[in-house]
Amino acid sequence: MRITMLRFSNVHMSQTPTSPMAKLLLDWYDRHRRTLPWRALPGETADPYKVWLSEIMLQQTTVATVGSYFRKFVDKWPTVTALATAELDAVLRQWAGLGYYARARNLHKCAQMVVSEFGGRFPCTEDKLLGLPGIGPYTAAAIAAIAFDRPAAAIDGNVERVIARLYAIETPLPDAKPEIKARTLDLVPAARPGDFAQALMDLGATICAPRKANCLLCPWQQPCAARAAGIAETLPRKKPKAERPTRHGTAFWVENADGWILLRRRPEQGLLGGMMEIPSTQWSSDGPPAPESEAPVNGDWQETSALVEHTFTHFHLRLKIWRTSVAGDCGLAAGDTSLWVPPDEVLDHALPTVMKKIVAVMAPDRVRPTR
Ligand code: ADE
Repeated sequence: MRITMLRFSNVHMSQTPTSPMAKLLLDWYDRHRRTLPWRALPGETADPYKVWLSEIMLQQTTVATVGSYFRKFVDKWPTVTALATAELDAVLRQWAGLGYYARARNLHKCAQMVVSEFGGRFPCTEDKLLGLPGIGPYTAAAIAAIAFDRPAAAIDGNVERVIARLYAIETPLPDAKPEIKARTLDLVPAARPGDFAQALMDLGATICAPRKANCLLCPWQQPCAARAAGIAETLPRKKPKAERPTRHGTAFWVENADGWILLRRRPEQGLLGGMMEIPSTQWSSDGPPAPESEAPVNGDWQETSALVEHTFTHFHLRLKIWRTSVAGDCGLAAGDTSLWVPPDEVLDHALPTVMKKIVAVMAPDRVRPTR
């Protein structure tokens, strides 16, 4: 097809059956679509469970990282009903490494709600999907489009970039979001909206990349306003971000007479909620706290030279490590959220990455790699 023969004047029409713009992208997708473990092949029907699971995993995590996690989850829990009946701890363990553990807790809760409220079948509208835990506007739109072929605009960072460039939107993000949404919705075709959503994602990931826009290979090369103006790689503009603050804390490495290590479960609410941890003080922005008052057991505490650093979304963390050895079990009571764990079983527990870093520093030769 010769691009010059296409009319681009109707790009703002709402959900035309398939506008020339949408057709260009869909034709490109038919030739260049990525094969991804969760993606239905041409002619196959999408499985809403796989679409939902992948979209939750892909929130804040790259396609490359998600692949192996996705396969393991689907092998272990092939349906939403299987996942709903799994132990939360098993889900958290399988999730470890993907980060943002609230997502895994919501994943489990969502599976249970799909079973209890929708008979094990995901609802197909954005509105109903939005009522489920862990599903925000982007994810609801992605599931509605990909799993149920609903004309929804699933706008993530990749799509924002593509649309900001296509229309040369120079308003910085996040102020540009409403315009980007309106423009995207105008483009969504009534036919194949699921493929259109995935095509936009693929275009953003493989062609219209952040630092290098490969315009020569782009199906929207001709109508792209940013390319015409020579500003593609400067878009989208972004308001400057506030700097991440640094928080400080002390982690307490406790061994008993058998060399077992003390772990503790974090409170359900809050960062890393419900995950296991090496006990630590509060993480404070006011400089290193006095650790003695927050130590989990009485003991002869030694400050080590180890320092573990980890970056969360909103702050950097610097943890000093203190250690002690104790003779008995320190009177851990039944119902206590702490437990003693043999060193080679520490990584079997649902430990977040920051805690694994502590284990790697304190017991590098005694722990088995994560299974
Ligand atoms: N990023 C987020 N969702 C995606 C999907 N379904 N396919 C590819 N990349 C994605």
